[in-house]
Amino acid sequence: METIQSISYPVVFNDGFAALKRFLSEKKYSKVFFLVDENSEKYCLPLLVESLGIQEYDLIEVTSGEENKNIDFCIGIWKMLIDFGADRNSLLINVGGGVITDMGGFAASTFKRGIDFVQVPTTLLSQVDASVGGKTGIDMDHLKNIIGTFAQPKAVFIDTNLLKTLPQRQLVSGFAEMLKHGLIADRNYFYLLKEASPENIDPALIHHSIKIKNKVVLQDPEEKGLRKILNFGHTIGHAVESFSLQNDQIALTHGEAIAIGMICEAFLSTQKTGLSAADLQEIVTTFKTFYEKHTIKEASVLDLIELMKSDKKNASGHINCSLLTQIGQCAIDYFCTEEELCQSLKFYINC
Ligand SMILES: NC(=O)c1ccc[n+]([C@@H]2O[C@H](COP(=O)([O-])OP(=O)(O)OC[C@H]3O[C@@H](n4cnc5c(N)ncnc54)[C@H](O)[C@@H]3O)[C@@H](O)[C@H]2O)c1
Repeated sequence: METIQSISYPVVFNDGFAALKRFLSEKKYSKVFFLVDENSEKYCLPLLVESLGIQEYDLIEVTSGEENKNIDFCIGIWKMLIDFGADRNSLLINVGGGVITDMGGFAASTFKRGIDFVQVPTTLLSQVDASVGGKTGIDMDHLKNIIGTFAQPKAVFIDTNLLKTLPQRQLVSGFAEMLKHGLIADRNYFYLLKEASPENIDPALIHHSIKIKNKVVLQDPEEKGLRKILNFGHTIGHAVESFSLQNDQIALTHGEAIAIGMICEAFLSTQKTGLSAADLQEIVTTFKTFYEKHTIKEASVLDLIELMKSDKKNASGHINCSLLTQIGQCAIDYFCTEEELCQSLKFYINC
């Protein structure tokens, strides 16, 4: 499938890392570092290293999990770069899910005022969403992505074969961002996805999702306007994700939390941007087929609102949402009252 040209870099799709091999031989970096977590090291790094035919590289490993996407692990990455003698002509190759591509991109974009990095996303979620668009970052005090940069990788290399080892739950998680792409930009695609199986996803659908995201970020690389449509489901979803990380024994994945956020924000859309009751029903039914109901206690609703108040998308103290006008179209910059947000959470609790 064809390479997708993004802001300043190619997103190379299923070429067996031949383009990455060419890239490395042309660029002549002083040192090449791989950033992995224990799962991407075990399941993805061997294939990558073999395809590239390289013997010498430095490895930086962090422990997997959203709870580790923080400044402490970032300091660990910077220290390793220093210890291994990284200079400004070094390259960081981020091999992993969205936690690794976000944190690795952030670490690279700030180390010595910025070194080159490339993304090798290894989860469905990072292939369709996290590795494209130049948003990098870490969480702090349970606030999602509150520290970060816009920094473009030199390239993104996607190999859907890497998804073969991904647990089913992670595949379904990534599928949520694909459904979002349909909801905000492509009604037919949403209906196509309804019939798809996240456990056995067609690479053509992954490619299509990347094209949707890329089309949006090309028009608005730094989220001054249009790009905010990609935040549909994320104002409430990020709060649900942060809350779950703090309170649940087994925390929700990013995609599971965003799926809840999308149901709530679809309800809000019927109140504020004219989404029809039929489209809301369609969305709820679809999400119910892919995602188990998660228990949110009525008593937690106010805690969730508190988390939303610190969302980085807010302006002048107002909680900002991107909302649907219909399936396939999204409108930006709708400020929502606490009462409206409470209602939408209660809609989820009761649906
Ligand atoms: N920058 C962006 O534009 C953007 C967009 C969406 C999401 N995100 C971020 O992405 C993160 C979520 O990413 P994620 O869902 O990929 O989570 P993740 O990085 O935590 O990966 C999920 C799990 O899969 C494991 N794993 C990774 N690749 C594997 C493979 N091939 N086989 C087996 N196991 C594998 C990981 O070790 C981890 O345990 C969140 O922090 C979110 O904020 C960023």
